[in-house]
Amino acid sequence: MTDDSSRKIDASVPHSARVWNCFLGGKDNYEVDREAARRYRELFPQIDTIARTDRAFLGRAVRYMAGEEGIRQFLDIGTGLPTMDNTHEVAQRVAPESRIVYVDNDPLVLVHAQALLNSSTGVTDYIEADLREPEMILAKAANTLDFDQPIGLMLLGILHFVEDFDLVRRVVAQLVEAVPSGSHLALTHATFDIGSHDVVEANAAAQADYNANAAVPLMARTKAQILQFFDGLELVEPGLVSMSRWRPEAIPFGEPPEVAGFCGVGRKP
Ligand SMILES: C[S@@+](CC[C@H](N)C(=O)[O-])C[C@H]1O[C@@H](n2cnc3c(N)ncnc32)[C@H](O)[C@@H]1O
Repeated sequence: MTDDSSRKIDASVPHSARVWNCFLGGKDNYEVDREAARRYRELFPQIDTIARTDRAFLGRAVRYMAGEEGIRQFLDIGTGLPTMDNTHEVAQRVAPESRIVYVDNDPLVLVHAQALLNSSTGVTDYIEADLREPEMILAKAANTLDFDQPIGLMLLGILHFVEDFDLVRRVVAQLVEAVPSGSHLALTHATFDIGSHDVVEANAAAQADYNANAAVPLMARTKAQILQFFDGLELVEPGLVSMSRWRPEAIPFGEPPEVAGFCGVGRKP
């Protein structure tokens, strides 16, 4: 996983960081990614809303952790390509001294990482690593983060790219084990457990179509499975919910419609 050959930019198959960038309206992607995004959207038009709703949750979750819980350090694994309101920008607006470590295994994210390292106040760092190498991530993150102080662990839109559920559960448990009491875990995850029958069918068809060509397949999981990532943590209200329903900004039209992705924030006691 760490040899250079596996970390070359490959423009011949769709990569999740770049396809996600298409859904978010970005320009850091190749034709193969744009084609994958077009097919996804055709089968499951909700996908653009899902991507934007995920980023809006990122903002609310970081503001909650920084503003209400006083967290000043974040470890954001599966960062994605830089876009609007990256974790350090949100956190440093609340607390300018915030320290953020970004981690991703996509070589194109590394190329664009400079945009993540432009914090004018606190500190940001970038580690090129795979989620399945938690020891390496923790060792390198310790150069920037103080593991005796609470850390906001961010795993947004990444856990569904590890096919082996037991493995990814162990990795999350290992990361949670490494951070002190008062730390928080924030995550988002694809699911087929939200939506009408038609929505679920379209969602499953788009995932299967994507997986037939993608560099790394995407695995939707059930609510019961995703809840297991929070083992040993206290889920912050309102618990594990659709990404649009986690402490939404007030709107005059009642609750925002659900989208097919779970999110949650848990506190380490
Ligand atoms: C769908 S994007 C999500 C980006 C961002 N977290 C967000 O929520 O907007 C998934 C990101 O996770 C990264 N990723 C996927 N599998 C990974 C792994 N095993 N190790 C590290 N990064 C990974 C991809 O390269 C991509 O940048």
